[in-house]
Amino acid sequence: MADSAEGAGPAPAPEAESAEGAGPAAAPKAGSPKGAGSALTRRGLLIGIGAAGGAGAMYAAMGALGLAPSDQDKQFTAPRRGDFTLRGKGSAKVVILGAGVAGLTAAYELGKAGYDCTLLEARQQAGGRNLTLRGGDRLTELNGPAQDVRFGQGVYFNAGPGRIAPWMVALDYCRELGIPIETFVNNNAAAYVHTNGRTVRARTARADMYGYVAELLAKATDLGALDKVITGEDRDRLLEFLRRFGDLGPKLEYEGSERRGFTRYPALDGGAALPAPGTLHQVLAAGTGRAITNDFGYEQATPMFQPVGGMDAIVTKLQEAVGADRIRTGAKVTKITNLADGVEVAYTGGVVKADYCIATLPPHLLARIPHNLGAQVTAALATPVPVAAGKIGLEYGTRWWELEDRIYGGVTETDLDITHIWYPSHDYHAERGLLVGYYNTGSAAELYGALTPEDRRHRALTQGKKIHGEKYRRDLLSSASIAWERQEHIQGAWVRWPSFDSSFTLLQRPAGRVYFAGDWLTHLIAWQAGAMESARGAVTGLHQRVLQSP
Ligand code: ALA
Repeated sequence: MADSAEGAGPAPAPEAESAEGAGPAAAPKAGSPKGAGSALTRRGLLIGIGAAGGAGAMYAAMGALGLAPSDQDKQFTAPRRGDFTLRGKGSAKVVILGAGVAGLTAAYELGKAGYDCTLLEARQQAGGRNLTLRGGDRLTELNGPAQDVRFGQGVYFNAGPGRIAPWMVALDYCRELGIPIETFVNNNAAAYVHTNGRTVRARTARADMYGYVAELLAKATDLGALDKVITGEDRDRLLEFLRRFGDLGPKLEYEGSERRGFTRYPALDGGAALPAPGTLHQVLAAGTGRAITNDFGYEQATPMFQPVGGMDAIVTKLQEAVGADRIRTGAKVTKITNLADGVEVAYTGGVVKADYCIATLPPHLLARIPHNLGAQVTAALATPVPVAAGKIGLEYGTRWWELEDRIYGGVTETDLDITHIWYPSHDYHAERGLLVGYYNTGSAAELYGALTPEDRRHRALTQGKKIHGEKYRRDLLSSASIAWERQEHIQGAWVRWPSFDSSFTLLQRPAGRVYFAGDWLTHLIAWQAGAMESARGAVTGLHQRVLQSP
């Protein structure tokens, strides 16, 4: 239990049971050696070449002129109606398998040029893993009971993706589609770190670990242990940094720091300090490493963002742009046949014949669908391994985490099987609110997934109570949980490639007239941006081919 208990810190009651009471076109690069006039001339030339020789000729010409995108500088150019009218060609018909984020993005981009797209979606609604649950929804599951979601008005649970990094293309789609976004608080110093049975504020855990690490390195440096690898000047610079990094004292010792927080924060007086930090041994033994470095990566670094009102705004807007009438739901694909002049896709409900196909289903499910694309394709599709992940949304009648714990958004990291607790980054000070009471993957997710919804909730509350105390159960109104490996027609949260080998690259290329797309074909697995980037890649390849075809 918390040695910290900042302010009114958490005070769990003894174990108790029972759960709730209830794009624009790429502009020529700046710095043209001959100035703007010459860029214009080159553009005119390129349009001419493009109209006469198709996109391939244009790209070749762009390369010769030094304008072709390099690997470092690939800019997506959405297909445009003019691409066809300039050539006096007709657009093609494309059947898209799956109306998740990849499928919808592909249809949206192709639609800009007038492609005739049909999407086949096995589930009853579009969106795939981009799923936001609200009151009135019913969530079914393979081999498990259905859950009726009873959240109150305005309360929602992003059961799939929940955060977007600013460099991700998902944010560009929010802008383009007019979806308002708000900050997702991924890193909150006031959230907790719960490891080895001990709960402290994240700021306390970080201050202690950084402090001791800085002290050790500073002392080693000061004793000359690094003299063979750094110069005397660099030693002084390093010591200067380490003093700041660890908030060290004059003797290069870490003896605690105000960075750790207070029992009572300064105001008219200097506040009341927390008890002194544990020893170096105790801090290391607390095992806070993963918990305090979780957001160090480029994917998770703050600030992150979320669409206002729920992640599924992305699905809603893409669907509107694509045209809901193009999406056939309840349409499970049963056979894919590549033909000399097109593709034929059979599904429960009929057959679609198109010029091209973009298959965006999860690879482990695609691998089971009969096709004539060859054994290598089947083997490649069967290579990535589905990963389980689960989440529970816990709706409360008061936002005690804000009122009592002073936690406004962010994530508590734990070494419990719940792994994370997410606090909402929206509707602060509202009457109700919803926490993500677990977000786990792998074996922990499978363990929760195998339980009934009631038992998942019970277990999540028992675990969360170790951090937040009895109030974690007190005001619970309702809950809903998801086990992605048990979602029909998805059967996994995402996939893991044993290695990004020839199977991965094989599927990045079309098999006949069938293209593949999805986050699973990128190095951005488990991010909508991966699905979108992959869809753009397939669209680019397909469009160039159509433009070049006789
Ligand atoms: N994209 C996933 C997440 O945000 C992995 O947790």
